[in-house]
Amino acid sequence: MAMNVAIDGPAGAGKSTIAKAVAAKKGYVYVDTGAMYRAMALYFLRAGIASDDEKSISEKVDEIVVSIKYEDGAQHVILNGEDVTGLIRTEEVGNMASATSVYSAVRTKLVALQQELAKTTDVIMDGRDIGTVVLPNADVKVFLTASVECRAKRRFDELKDKGANPDFDQIAKDIEERDYRDSHREISPLKQADDAVLVDSSDMTIDEVVAAIIDLCK
Ligand code: C5P
Repeated sequence: MAMNVAIDGPAGAGKSTIAKAVAAKKGYVYVDTGAMYRAMALYFLRAGIASDDEKSISEKVDEIVVSIKYEDGAQHVILNGEDVTGLIRTEEVGNMASATSVYSAVRTKLVALQQELAKTTDVIMDGRDIGTVVLPNADVKVFLTASVECRAKRRFDELKDKGANPDFDQIAKDIEERDYRDSHREISPLKQADDAVLVDSSDMTIDEVVAAIIDLCK
């Protein structure tokens, strides 16, 4: 049986940083499910579809093939044959992903892909619904969170490092809106699974969080 570790939590809690580090230490494959929702969102943006047009979005889902591949241990997201890894990290794509991930046509397709990946491979998978819906029988489930201020600060620093001129209040507002939408949607809302361990990283270093999760994987 493959080892499955699920990490869920709100935007900016550090899920990907932590999951990548745990994957490297334990030899698991890191699966970033948010990147799959982002790749689909990029397709909808390019097609000029409004995020509230569920009918068009559901029809377009059939035209989309999302897959992932690994190069030097890093996940690449392939959208209809095109490597879009470098194009999906913008706020625009993130907000579109949050808005379009509420639709069942989008979720059904990506959940199936995620479950397939976890069947045969030792994975640490991060997202919003991994412990609750995608991998309900995961060996380890973590709900990783941090305060809004703390998450906004991390995002602010990250954008600044990239040479951008970010607006802190706007980032905090986007995070709050996304949290609200992700946790209040009808299908697979963001919530802590009953058997998940809650880790609040607000006052923890990356190394401390990684150590705590590796401990759970023993
Ligand atoms: O984690 P990331 O910010 O890349 O995810 C982008 C959006 O994709 C999230 O705001 C969320 O709405 C959606 N998502 C989801 N389920 C997942 C992963 C991401 O609904 N498992």
